[in-house]
Amino acid sequence: MSVEGKVVLITGAARGLGYEYARALGAAGARIVAGDVADCAAAAEAAGNGAIAMRLNVADVASADSMAEHAMDAFGRIDALINNAALYGSLRGGRFNQIAEADWDAAMAVNVKGIWNCCKAAVPAMRQSGGGSIINVASLAATYGMAFALHYTTSKAAVIGLTRGLARELGRDNIRVNAIAPSAVVTEGTAEFFGERLDRGLEVIRAQQTIQRTLEPSDLVGTIAWLISDGSQFVTGQTIAVDGGTVML
Ligand SMILES: NC(=O)c1ccc[n+]([C@@H]2O[C@H](COP(=O)([O-])OP(=O)(O)OC[C@H]3O[C@@H](n4cnc5c(N)ncnc54)[C@H](O)[C@@H]3O)[C@@H](O)[C@H]2O)c1
Repeated sequence: MSVEGKVVLITGAARGLGYEYARALGAAGARIVAGDVADCAAAAEAAGNGAIAMRLNVADVASADSMAEHAMDAFGRIDALINNAALYGSLRGGRFNQIAEADWDAAMAVNVKGIWNCCKAAVPAMRQSGGGSIINVASLAATYGMAFALHYTTSKAAVIGLTRGLARELGRDNIRVNAIAPSAVVTEGTAEFFGERLDRGLEVIRAQQTIQRTLEPSDLVGTIAWLISDGSQFVTGQTIAVDGGTVML
C-alpha cells in the first residue's frame, strides 16, 4: 500500500490540509506537484523528493491545464490528483436567504468547477500511463447536511455527485475516482470558518462522533495514501467518511 514514486498533484497546498498532504506524502516517497492561488513553495520544500510548486487557480481552465503540463514536464506522468482546494474559511455563512449571490457563485466556481477543470487537465496523462487515482475532498457538511452555509454544503454535495458520475465514465481507463468526507480538523480555514465559535463548534461536532476526539490531519493522510496506492485498486465512486463515525454511509 505504498505511494513510493507516485506522481501526485495536490491543489490548495499552501496551507492547512493540502500542505500536510504534500509534506506527508512526500515523506512517504511520492513526487509532489503542489498548486495554490497563494505561494505554496513551502509545501514543495516540506515534501522534498524533487517536489515542485506553482501558482494555480483551479477555477481557471488554462491554469488547471498548466498544472498538468508542469507535472508532465517535471516527472513525465501523473498517478494521482488530490482535489483539495476550496473556498471554505473565507466564505461568509448565514441563513440560506442571506447568502450573497457572489459568494454562492464563487463557492461553485472553485469548489465544484475547479475539480472538473483539474480532472479534465489530469485525465489525459493518466490514460496515457494506464490509469490513476483521483481523490476529491467533500465534507461532513454534505454528508450530515450542515446548516447556515448552504453554498458550502451544496458545493460539497456536488463533489460527491461529480465523484460518482466521473467514476462511471473513467473505470474503463482504470482511473479510480473517490472522495473523502472529513469532519472538522483544526486548520486556519476552520478557525476562520467558526471564528469566535471555534471551541463550541468543535465540541458540538465531537459530540456527534462515536470516536470522540477531534480529527487530526494524519487521519486523513492515511485514507488518502491508501486511495492513491494499489491497495485500493478495486475501489471507485466511493465517498469515504473520515469523521469518527458521525455519518455511516
Ligand atoms: N479543515 C476542515 O475541518 C475540513 C473539513 C471538511 C472538509 N474540508 C475540506 O478540506 C480542504 C482543505 O481544507 P483546509 O481546512 O486545509 O482549508 P484552507 O482554507 O486552510 O486551505 C484551502 C487552500 O485552498 C487554496 N485555494 C482557495 N481557492 C483556490 C483556487 N481557486 N485555486 C487554488 N487554490 C485555492 C487556498 O489558498 C488555501 O491554501 C477543503 O476542500 C475543505 O473544504 C476541510
